[in-house]
Amino acid sequence: MRLADEPDEAWLAVAARRKGGLPDAARRVLIDARLVKCASVAGDLAIARGAVVRDFLHLALVEVAEPARGRGLARHITRALALWGRDMGAGTAFLQVEETNLPARTLYGRLGFTTHHPYVTRTAPD
Ligand SMILES: CC(C)(COP(=O)(O)OP(=O)(O)OC[C@H]1O[C@@H](n2cnc3c(N)ncnc32)[C@H](O)[C@@H]1OP(=O)(O)O)[C@@H](O)C(=O)NCCC(=O)NCCS
Repeated sequence: MRLADEPDEAWLAVAARRKGGLPDAARRVLIDARLVKCASVAGDLAIARGAVVRDFLHLALVEVAEPARGRGLARHITRALALWGRDMGAGTAFLQVEETNLPARTLYGRLGFTTHHPYVTRTAPD
């Protein structure tokens, strides 16, 4: 487990695969907070981003390589960021997850997250 201040190339490559590419500004945006950690396990086996703003920890880009899923890596990396966030003064963690993403919703539910509010993403017609 590595908690780095900045994403390395392997970390960015995983995030880019998930997002279908990253814009040039992505790296700058990802570290554009005073307290940020880019977590990774064994390079690119699992990644996640944590950012502390005031007393909140925001978790994002939790991703485990397909062959390594189901072994507790997501739980491990999320908890590592939660412990770091707590040390930085964050008493509450939050994240966004799609309603249809059952693996992720189960993961976060097992870690103690509950739904604060749902939201709707609308796509503009062509
Ligand atoms: C969601 C994801 C991060 C889970 O990673 P993982 O390393 O396989 O998860 P873990 O092994 O740590 O599992 C933690 C808990 O999640 C649950 N879980 C994980 N995968 C699951 C699945 N496919 N179906 C149901 N529950 C699942 C397990 O029940 C486990 O709890 P338990 O041990 O008490 O049973 C992984 O599937 C992934 O990378 N998905 C694609 C990216 C993504 O959706 N990220 C989340 C964006 S918000």
